[in-house]
Amino acid sequence: MENLQQIYKQAAQMTYKGQVATYIPALAVNDPNAFAVSMMSAEDSIELGECATMFTLQSVVKVISFMVATNHHGIEEIMHYVDVEPTGDSFNSIVRLESNNNKPFNPMINAGAITIASLLPGRTMYDKVKSVTLFLEQILGKQVHINNEVYFSEYHSADYNRAISYILQANGFLKSDVEEALQVYLQLCSISVNVSDLAKIAFYFATNGKNSEAHCSIEVINIAKALMLTCGMYNFSGKFAAFVGLPAKSGVSGAIIAIVKQGEIEHLQGPIGIGLYGPAIDKVGNSVAGIEFLTQLSKQYELFCL
Ligand code: DON
Repeated sequence: MENLQQIYKQAAQMTYKGQVATYIPALAVNDPNAFAVSMMSAEDSIELGECATMFTLQSVVKVISFMVATNHHGIEEIMHYVDVEPTGDSFNSIVRLESNNNKPFNPMINAGAITIASLLPGRTMYDKVKSVTLFLEQILGKQVHINNEVYFSEYHSADYNRAISYILQANGFLKSDVEEALQVYLQLCSISVNVSDLAKIAFYFATNGKNSEAHCSIEVINIAKALMLTCGMYNFSGKFAAFVGLPAKSGVSGAIIAIVKQGEIEHLQGPIGIGLYGPAIDKVGNSVAGIEFLTQLSKQYELFCL
């Protein structure tokens, strides 16, 4: 454990290099020095730092909503609406919406995630949000809630996302109206969790959803993991795959999930789910301490999966 504590300590010292997201006012109040890690295997778990702190999922939810929508419509239908190609652009970029036949490049960037939000099962906005929270509740075995303060704060600073939504609608890539897609998307970003919940979500992927109440076809889970590996860490995804080598997804709240299909971290063995929370993020949008921790962890415990 000493080695692990050391990696944690060194990563925690890096938070000064990042800043909490300020473009959503309700996120700007988070403690920039916070850093917590939770890791779980089938038998045991390890927690480092203050693991009870609640925060919002932000873009980590994009993987879950992709799975719910794709489970419902099937892969072929979803591929008519959103591709699975990385962009190398920032998460809210608008530039590529006029290339690739105007189809959003992947569901991990905002354009693709807003399209996916419009495709979620259910007649009303409420039903669509519920389809994702229900799936999450089945993974976590507990109820989840939306942080309304973050949601309203996002809603009132959503100029880029609104612009993206109108372009998607103009090109036929929204299945609901703009306002509904946008509100569903932003509510999903505002789901409140802690770092142990993140570890559980990651463990779900590490075990391909085996023995979970949350049913999803293996083909869809495989695509979700491929998307995390190629597009999960924003425009740092290539470097993350090259130097850390784990499927992972981050959010601007400083949340990250990382998936270890097979590994050994101290007394944890087999499939391992890792959840991290460090709200000081870098320019790209990834938790500075989280990236540092995962880089060292992968190196020292030989977790590189490719
Ligand atoms: O779209 C937004 O601005 C946020 N609610 C989600 C941000 C996030 O985590 C980055 N997305 N890829």
